[in-house]
Amino acid sequence: MAPLRLGVLGSGRGSNFVAIADAITQGQLNAEVALVVADVESAAILETARARGMRAEYVAPGRFRTKMEPEAEQRVVDLLREERVEWVVLAGFIRMIKAPLLEAFPRRIINIHPSLLPAFSGLEAWRQAVEAGAAVSGCTVHYVDAGMDTGAVIAQREVPVMAGDTPESLHARIQAAEHVLYPEVLRRIADGR
Ligand code: GRF
Repeated sequence: MAPLRLGVLGSGRGSNFVAIADAITQGQLNAEVALVVADVESAAILETARARGMRAEYVAPGRFRTKMEPEAEQRVVDLLREERVEWVVLAGFIRMIKAPLLEAFPRRIINIHPSLLPAFSGLEAWRQAVEAGAAVSGCTVHYVDAGMDTGAVIAQREVPVMAGDTPESLHARIQAAEHVLYPEVLRRIADGR
């Protein structure tokens, strides 16, 4: 079967993107990153993608803080279509997704969140877990809908919260779990077509 064509949206470091790209290179995931888009011009994910020979585009998000302006989101849709992207992968993308993109890829947009949803949705979920004294946390891959971290859960991976954990140490443990879970979920999607 032809490799599944992925479009990755990020705003930051892109370590999940790297985990996915590595899984592809190592022959563990029958996919191809057709396009990387960032809403932050200086995001490391853009450079990392270009260094790997991938197309990586900055799209100016417009005047809102929590979402893209509709014109900007439409530009993202146009780029994804141009590259014949089949599934959209949010990897550290900080904005909510709205109508033009959701309608263009119904049930074809997924996100990874650093907690066991529905626990600790929203920002700095690892800090929320430490502050709440949780014994267990983890990460969740879920479908994206118009809400924040509210879409149907696809898969989760647990990590323990250790005595003496700081938000940072828990975050690092959760991220290591993310780097396993995200490629694994994509493999299931690619193989299940
Ligand atoms: C991850 O921890 C993910 O859970 C959250 O954003 C972070 C992205 O990190 N949605 P990276 O850019 O993939 O390193």
